[in-house]
This record gives sequence, structure tokens and C-alpha cells, in this order.
Amino acid sequence: MSQLQTFFVTTPIYYVNDRPHIGHVYTTVAADVMARFNRLDGKEVFFLTGSDEHGQKVERSAEARGIAPIALADEVVAEYASLWERFEISFDRFIRTTEPGHKEAVKAIFQRLTASGTLYKGSYEDWYCTPCESFWTETQIRNGLCPDCARPVERLAEESYFFALSRYTQPLIDHIESHPEFIGPESRRNEVLAFLKNEEGLRDLSVSRTGFTWGIPVPGDDKHLIYVWIDALTNYLSALGYPDQEGSMGRFWPPSLHLIGKDILRFHAIYWPAMLMAADLPLPKRLYAHGWWTVEGEKMSKSKGNVVRPDDLLAKYPPDVIRYFMLRDVPFGGDGDYSQASLDMRYTTELANDLGNLAQRVLSMAVKQFGGIPSRSQAMENDEAALLATLLRSRDEVRAQIEVQAFHKALGAIWQVVGEANRFIDATAPWALAKQADQRGRLAGVLLSAMETIRGVAILLLPFMPTMAGKILQQMGEEIPDTRRGSCAGLDLLVGEPRLSQGKTLDKPVGVFPRLG
Ligand code: MSP
Repeated sequence: MSQLQTFFVTTPIYYVNDRPHIGHVYTTVAADVMARFNRLDGKEVFFLTGSDEHGQKVERSAEARGIAPIALADEVVAEYASLWERFEISFDRFIRTTEPGHKEAVKAIFQRLTASGTLYKGSYEDWYCTPCESFWTETQIRNGLCPDCARPVERLAEESYFFALSRYTQPLIDHIESHPEFIGPESRRNEVLAFLKNEEGLRDLSVSRTGFTWGIPVPGDDKHLIYVWIDALTNYLSALGYPDQEGSMGRFWPPSLHLIGKDILRFHAIYWPAMLMAADLPLPKRLYAHGWWTVEGEKMSKSKGNVVRPDDLLAKYPPDVIRYFMLRDVPFGGDGDYSQASLDMRYTTELANDLGNLAQRVLSMAVKQFGGIPSRSQAMENDEAALLATLLRSRDEVRAQIEVQAFHKALGAIWQVVGEANRFIDATAPWALAKQADQRGRLAGVLLSAMETIRGVAILLLPFMPTMAGKILQQMGEEIPDTRRGSCAGLDLLVGEPRLSQGKTLDKPVGVFPRLG
């Protein structure tokens, strides 16, 4: 029996000391599009997201609120869960780093690194501020004073575990150079290479912390907690059942794609592959670092009070519209600016006018003239064939662009078809054909070809706008390929002969894109 090709996609796991904002939605929606598109393309997908719950920051935030860290985590995780439901995020697994299985996996990795001789106990020396209980580097201190409280710092050595990262400078360079697709976009890849090639090379990494308790203890030495980034990165393994190498690990490892923001590139492009090399595990095939959102031209920050909260957006726009906007407005690798004006503009011109009106006018005419899907009674004319050929070409273009996370280009390719279809309708003028008794055959052909095209567009749009694209298909009496689970090979349906059931009766269509209030 031939096995389906697999596709394993991840988001970062989000900290629980902050509430979700559009930045978190952005990565997760992009991962959802990757997951849904690959399911539609016949692959078996594993889509992983989750929460990063340990560390001193979480311990402190919980303390400040007078609750236990796990209570804080539960609260924020519940908020993510409901948010992902509203955005129709089709993850297969939501991992929490406080799960017992995850903790076991982190300990197992720590032991694996120890066994491979890449982990050792040493001493960490830096500037220490006793009142703040914090270590600072030479460049962080200000004239011999703590950058936080401005009191004197002292030189202090602390026992710590180290990962022998320095040994991996050259192996990482070699890997990145021989796998050009490993890091995207290109600019980030160059940034990582430049960092690795600087003359000092990498320094060994301190991978344990002391002085707080909310974390996973070093096996056999529980005064030390495992550094939260080692803990967090291991989620990609523990979610598949590591250290058990069979089951999901055997099926899905290595990851096909880690989607991350540019802020956490170094952890994923350097620490993580080095750890995997040390543990003798295959490296992820690709990681892609997207840019950051600003708001009306400014950096989002709590102190400025300009953080865009998903709830506020959802109060104004359907989730699909937000999904569309985020991926359409900005090339995925670059920074983007959220502005309500451009969201409204794109909604009105691209969704409501270009696509919404196209579907509405074609479907209503088909229902009015033929009671549903017209039956073809004469040979297809050249302009119809040309329109359908555009659709097929765009399917290939969309696939190629999604493969390299160029979501804005994939959507651009879909909108080219929408544009062609609108021009086709304007040129063939079905409303005029409807007035000529001898043009019934041509009218049926024109409407049918337009509907086939709209159907194809809706299928290509399913990963981006699952509800709205689904509604368009439903109005044409079509089954909606299920992109939420498993695999459905829906893209195959676009190939070859027209697929709509000719002669089928349809209800009068209802506009899919309402006027915004
Ligand atoms: N817990 C770590 C990740 C561990 S992964 C093994 C973490 N969490 S986080 O809650 O801070 O979320 C980080 C991610 O949120 C970023 O990588 C990025 O994907 C996203 N964003 C946070 N702010 C953002 C913007 N302003 N704009 C776009 N995305 C941003 O780091």
C-alpha cells in the first residue's frame, strides 16, 4: 500500500505571560494556510502549535497577580484555545510545555546530549546584581551599575550546564550552504550565515538556570532548571512522542516547516539545529522567519497602548477577512503595517467587488435563466477555454508560491483569475445574450465556464478563507473538501474536464461578502 506523503508544520509555542495579539495570530494563520493547502494537495499533515509555559517571567507575572504559575498558564491557554477556534485554526495538536510527556522528553534530550559528550557542567561568570538577582553582560551594564536598578554590580561566577555550541559553527555553515532552502527568506539566511562566519565563531551556551523554581529540573541535579529555550524547542519533538522514535516520530519527523517570527530566528537557525546534530536527529527541512507588524506606522507596545487585540478586530470583521488581509497586504518575509484604512480598502475592492460581485452576478443569472447550473448544449468557445486554462495555470502558480511561503503572490495569482473572469463576463455580456432567443446555447456556455472558474477559485481560496470560500462552493451545490483534517486531494478536482453537475437546481445566491457596518 502506498503511503501518503507527510507534511509537518509548526508555529512557535507562545508565552503565557502575555495575552494574544495580532502578531501571534499572524504566524498561526500562515501555518494554518500551509496545513490546509497541503491537506488539499493530498498530503498527510501534522500541524502543531502550543504554549511555552515555564520560566522566570511567567513565575513573576503569576506572582504579581497572586496566583500560581499553572493557573496563569491555564487562563492564557484557554484564551488561545478560543481564539484559534474563532480563526478556524486547524491544528492537529496543541502542546503545553507543562504536560508530563513534554517534561520527560526534555529530560531525555538533556540526557541524550550528556551522553553524546556535548553537555558539560562548568562555571558561568558575569556581572551580578544581588538585589535584582540578575546576571548582566559587559555590554549590558552601565558604568559599573545595574541597567535595571542602577546599583553597583559585582563579578560573580555561577555553576551552570553548557551545551558545546562552539563545535557546531562549521557544521552549521556547511549545512546552510548545502541546503539553500533551509532558511527563508534569503535575507535571513544571509544574516545567519554572516553571524556564524564572524571571526569569533559561536560560544558555548549556558543551558541551565538557578534562582527560581518554575521549570524542568536538570535530571539528577534539581538545583538547576533547564534553560527555557531548550525546554521550548523540544516541543517539536515531544509533540510527536519523543523519546519514542516509532509512531508519530517515525511518521512525521523531521519537520517540513517551522514558521517563526524574525525575533526568534537565532534560536531556530542556530541553537536548534546544533542540538539536533548533537542528538543525532535529522534536521528540519525548512524554517521561515516572517516580519513584524507595526500599527499605523508605530511599533506595537503596551505602554503606547496601541497593541491590536484580535478580539477588537473580530468585533469588526469576519475572521476570514482578517486572515486574507494579513497574508495579502504584506510580503510574508517583510515587515508590515496594520492600518484599518488598508484593511477596509482591500475588503471593499478585492473581496466585496472583485470576487463577491463576480460570484453574485454569475450565480444569480444562472439561477434566473436556467434555475441552477446550466447544461452545455454547444461546443465550448475559445474565450471560455482560455478562461479555464488561466485557472489551471494559476493552480500551479499558487502551489509553487505557497511552497516558498509567498502567500501574497499566491493570492495575487488567484486574483488574476478573478480579474480574467470579470473581464470575460464584461466582454461576453451574458445579460445581453439573455435577450436573444438564438443565443441560449452560448449563454449556457458562458455562465457554465464562469461558474467552473469561480468554483476553482473558491477551492484555491479554501486554505485562506475556509468559511467564505466554502459558502461560495455550497451555493453552487458543491461538496466542500474538508481541509481541517486528514487529507482530501481537493486540488486534483481542478484538473481536466469541467466538474459542476450540469442541470442541477440551485437556490438563489446570497452575497458572501456583506457590506461592512
Ligand atoms: N515562546 C517563544 C517561542 C518558542 S518556540 C520554540 C516566544 N513566544 S512569543 O509569545 O513571544 O511569540 C513569539 C512569536 O509571536 C514570534 O516569533 C512571532 O511569530 C510572533 N510575534 C510577536 N509579535 C509580533 C509582531 N508584532 N508582529 C508579527 N509577529 C510577532 O517567542
